[in-house]
Amino acid sequence: MNNPHLHLRIETTKKSRIKELDTEPIPFGKIFSDHMLVANYSQGNWQDVQIIPYGPIDLSPATSALHYGQAIFEGMKAYKNSNGEPLLFRPDANHQRINQSAERLCMPAIPESIFIDGLKELIKLDDDWIPNKNGSVLYIRPIYFAVDESVGLKPSDSYKFIIISCPVGAYYSHPVKLIVTEKYVRAFEGGTGAAKVAGNYAASLIADREAKEKGYDNVIWLDGIHRRYIEECGTMNLAFVIDGVVVTPKLTGTILAGITRDSVLTLCRDWGIPVEERAIAIDEIVQAYHQGTLTEAFGMGTAATIAHISTIGYQGEDMIYLR
Ligand code: COI
Repeated sequence: MNNPHLHLRIETTKKSRIKELDTEPIPFGKIFSDHMLVANYSQGNWQDVQIIPYGPIDLSPATSALHYGQAIFEGMKAYKNSNGEPLLFRPDANHQRINQSAERLCMPAIPESIFIDGLKELIKLDDDWIPNKNGSVLYIRPIYFAVDESVGLKPSDSYKFIIISCPVGAYYSHPVKLIVTEKYVRAFEGGTGAAKVAGNYAASLIADREAKEKGYDNVIWLDGIHRRYIEECGTMNLAFVIDGVVVTPKLTGTILAGITRDSVLTLCRDWGIPVEERAIAIDEIVQAYHQGTLTEAFGMGTAATIAHISTIGYQGEDMIYLR
């Protein structure tokens, strides 16, 4: 699959927009770095791999991803170390996950030479865009979608893979207020819940909007069958500290296998903090809250980082941890 001889064409920008980075605080996902990586797949091959100035792309209105949603993405980050060298956080894990999402949507795998080697070239070129302010980083957004010009339903024969990046500040700038939704469901066994599929996020927007109308930041999804077991938040995985144990929903195929989640659990285990990955009923959280054994709740995600949860709303009651 990997093609070490892949040719990468690089066209640098004539005029950097780096001055846009002077904004304080840096907004999340609004300012894009100078360059992007673009690769095309057609006739069974990856081709035209290039790094070019960031800008709009030409698409036909018949582009099949726009109709049937054969579209996936990733979220990852680059930092600078104390010597000012750029560091990517676990890019292999994102590469593996995008190919799992691709398989779920009948899309060809992206070779390492494009995803990893191409990304490294892009970040080298745009490394001035990695902010050196505390709490700010370069967020990297790989996107991969079907581009057949066709309105018949079938897996596309041609695809576009693009990597853009944007310097970002905090996704949540305050402790997060979440509400459990009993009205909407994010995923079912056999569905696409574990894949980073654009449609999962589109389908979540109505619940998110209703949560915001009630003064919350986002929703907590319950499982689609019993409507009882906690799944994830949609922008991040969730964990609770009950009786000194970090408890998080098990990966059952309906929630995203977060890379930050995996890193947090690995660190906890290394530090001797007990961790349980298991089914967590919402009633268990309510009970632990009333008994005083629930001492903390937090989200884990690339964009969200570790987000403290201040409030969980459920059936008209607010459980408040941080006052
Ligand atoms: C990420 O954490 O990278 C995501 O893709 C979540 C998104 C809602 C910003």
